[in-house]
Amino acid sequence: MGRIDESVWEDLVAEARVASKNAYCPESGLAVGAALLMPDGRMVPGSNVENASFGLTNCAERTAVFSAVTGGLKPGEARAIAVYTPTLEPVSPCGACRQVMSEFFSPRGRVRAVCDGPEIKEWTVSDLLPDAFTFRKAGDG
Ligand code: THU
Repeated sequence: MGRIDESVWEDLVAEARVASKNAYCPESGLAVGAALLMPDGRMVPGSNVENASFGLTNCAERTAVFSAVTGGLKPGEARAIAVYTPTLEPVSPCGACRQVMSEFFSPRGRVRAVCDGPEIKEWTVSDLLPDAFTFRKAGDG
C-alpha cells in the first residue's frame, strides 16, 4: 500500500480539478471533481452527475469508484482519492460514498479534500467509516 508521495497528490488534485469542470450540477451548482489512484498508478476521474429527480444524483467520489471498477479495480485495492470543491472550506464525503469507498479501498486508503481556500482535510477510509457494514452469506465464515 505505502505512503502517497506529495507529487502524486498534486497530480490527483489536478485531475480532480479538471473533473469538476465536467460536473453536471444544474440543481445544486456545486461542481465536485474527484480522482482515484489505482494500484498500478492510473488515475481515474469522477464528477457529480445530478438529475431532475434529485435522489438519482451520483457524487463525484462514487462516479470515480464505479469508473475505476469498470477499468479493473477490485475490492480493497484503491489507494487514494482526491476530492476538489470550488468552496472556501473542504467538503467531507457523504455517507453513501463512505460506504462505497470502504468496499473498494484498503481501510488505510486515503481521502484528501481540497478547495479554493487554504485548508486541506485528509482521512483514512476507516476514519470516515469505522466498523463498515460488510455482507457475508450464512456459511461463508
Ligand atoms: N457531492 C459530491 O459529489 N461529493 C461530496 O463529497 C458531497 C456532495 C455532490 C452531490 C450533489 O451533486 C452536490 O454535491 C450537492 O450535494
